[in-house]
Amino acid sequence: MAKVQLMGSVPAALHIDEMKPWNSARQMLVCTGVVDEAPDVKTFTFAVEGGGWFRYLPGQFITVELRAEGGDLHRTYTISSSPSRPYAIAITIKAQPNSIGTRWMFDNIVAGSRVRAYGPSGHFTLSRNLAKKYLFVSAGSGITPMMSMLRWLADCAPGTDVTFINSSRRPEEIIFREELELLATRMPNLKLGFLPESRSGVTPWAGLMGRIDLQKLTMFAPDFLDREIFCCGPDPFMKAVSTIVKAEGFDMAHYHQESFGATALTDVAQKPANDDVLAGEEAGNRHKVEFLGTGEQAFCAGDQTVLVAARSVSVRIPAACESGLCGTCKVKKRSGEVEMHHNGGISDAEIADGYILACCSRPLGTIEIEA
Ligand code: FES
Repeated sequence: MAKVQLMGSVPAALHIDEMKPWNSARQMLVCTGVVDEAPDVKTFTFAVEGGGWFRYLPGQFITVELRAEGGDLHRTYTISSSPSRPYAIAITIKAQPNSIGTRWMFDNIVAGSRVRAYGPSGHFTLSRNLAKKYLFVSAGSGITPMMSMLRWLADCAPGTDVTFINSSRRPEEIIFREELELLATRMPNLKLGFLPESRSGVTPWAGLMGRIDLQKLTMFAPDFLDREIFCCGPDPFMKAVSTIVKAEGFDMAHYHQESFGATALTDVAQKPANDDVLAGEEAGNRHKVEFLGTGEQAFCAGDQTVLVAARSVSVRIPAACESGLCGTCKVKKRSGEVEMHHNGGISDAEIADGYILACCSRPLGTIEIEA
């Protein structure tokens, strides 16, 4: 039986049009519940402090700020809840053996805890890739974006044709198994395919076992060539799936994978400020970065990023992946030019609005930043 810890107080029963969407720049989140889902896997559910609702797409993620001893940590976690239920947001996370941030969360976040978070972000979403038939294929905690997508379909389009495959190490590690089996009784075109790698003495198993390959994929989804495929899991798993379907002639324009998954599953330490970045008059002819919110300014060489400049003068810009993927370090540029090489963490519309990702933007001259 799952261990459940819930907040008891009932929030004001306001309608959505009586509240505003969560503003991550101004509002904290309050944890309303923690549930054990599987060994080392927990779901944390949050509400908006002071009231509000969550606006996101199924498959997106948020970045959570953790007030750990020794400094703040930022971790990106995929949302497992559905935007069709906008009063709360949930993340389901697995503590990896060497994780620092996630383990800190497990030990410290309880019902009633206040947490700062940023987002939502991410392009691995169902809503941007609508199709008649889907194949969701995941491994381990890579199931979380698929669960958000499936819950959204269950609420908004329960007749959708979905084949849902999840690979796990052992049967008892299948996350959301009971809920998936319940959904299969209510979604007539949902087909489940669980694929543990091995048996254990804990949970009996009589179904297919082993690693994903063409034969098993075809048994679960004989028509996979006709489906929109979403894949999430460790890199070797995603590589195996993409290799299999590609070899069978699948049109890869209909194949989507969570490319930031490795970052989401790994703890990324805050990088220290770069000593080469000089504050104030020492800077000589380096490019000036003015931080309008704090009044600080820094100078950095052309190959140094706005994030490095910010840290050199203790201007706080949250960051997680530090490689242009997650969107956590998004800031508005008031003036000046930068060279930005991102990996999908910012949209064209946001760039047109003047936003940049501080972790992968290098000033080309004097710039002003709203931070
Ligand atoms: S920290 Fe993730 S995009 Fe900059």
